[in-house]
Amino acid sequence: MAVRKDTIFERFLAPIFQNFLIDREALTRYYKSRDWEQVSDRFRQPNFTYPDYYQSHNFHGVEGGYLSLGAALSYDPITQYVLPPNEVWVRQEALDRIRCHPRRILDLGCGTGTMTRLLKQKFPQAEVIGIDFSPYMLAVADDKAKSDGLAIEFLQGNAESTSFAANSFDLVTAALLFHETPPTVALNILREGFRLLKTGGEALIFDGNQATLRQTEWLTEIFEEPYIKAYAQGSIDAWMGAAGFGDVLTEEVWWVHQVTRGVKPLPYHSELATLTDRQYGLAMG
Ligand SMILES: C[S@@+](CC[C@H](N)C(=O)[O-])C[C@H]1O[C@@H](n2cnc3c(N)ncnc32)[C@H](O)[C@@H]1O
Repeated sequence: MAVRKDTIFERFLAPIFQNFLIDREALTRYYKSRDWEQVSDRFRQPNFTYPDYYQSHNFHGVEGGYLSLGAALSYDPITQYVLPPNEVWVRQEALDRIRCHPRRILDLGCGTGTMTRLLKQKFPQAEVIGIDFSPYMLAVADDKAKSDGLAIEFLQGNAESTSFAANSFDLVTAALLFHETPPTVALNILREGFRLLKTGGEALIFDGNQATLRQTEWLTEIFEEPYIKAYAQGSIDAWMGAAGFGDVLTEEVWWVHQVTRGVKPLPYHSELATLTDRQYGLAMG
């Protein structure tokens, strides 16, 4: 895994992960156990184009960002240490906030599919789909789901504009996605999520706590996240509102995380409103 030389991540964190926290033997075994190019090829869509924000940065110091096998294979071993106090607990806290009983779920920016799998386990009867840009992340996600015997469909796609039909999902989720995108992209993704949801459908967004990140600049420095400062200055609440969601509520989870839930409300019918106004006028004589 090629890593830039001059960053806090490279100088302090990468050696800690590489030498102490990651089981390198297990990772090497996993790496050798599959022909990853062949597996990831199954997810590559012909003529797929990646936006600049995605391919022009080295997320977490990994050259090529998520479009590298190294990033995909090391994502889970590292992520378990960067979601304090415990990855399983905080992801569960997010899932606990889902109120609907979805029949069709879409996980946007699903990465290696950790949240996607938890969604399928929580709602075994639901059709669950995960989309991501990276064929390597999708290859790992698919491999994990198959090992667990979970029927989940993983597809390469852009969460800003998917090819799914409008009003076709009951639940749309995005975990740890928005701190990795420019705020304009986050808003586009929320608008797309809104389009995809049926009326009354839910969106669930799990990510870094924007209020905490604003107060602790060092947290926005250490992991080489190119858009995290812009993310910290923004408000998922406001973005959800701008995308059309109602009943939006953001709750802090273990100080460093937040979960936002919103609902696609009944459409506002201007004709109905006009009729009501007219009726009101008639009633008033
Ligand atoms: C930090 S990972 C989060 C993965 C996963 N959701 C989780 O909870 O661990 C962010 C993922 O978002 C993907 N991504 C970023 N922008 C995207 C977009 N516009 N459409 C689809 N995937 C995107 C990246 O490839 C990466 O796998």
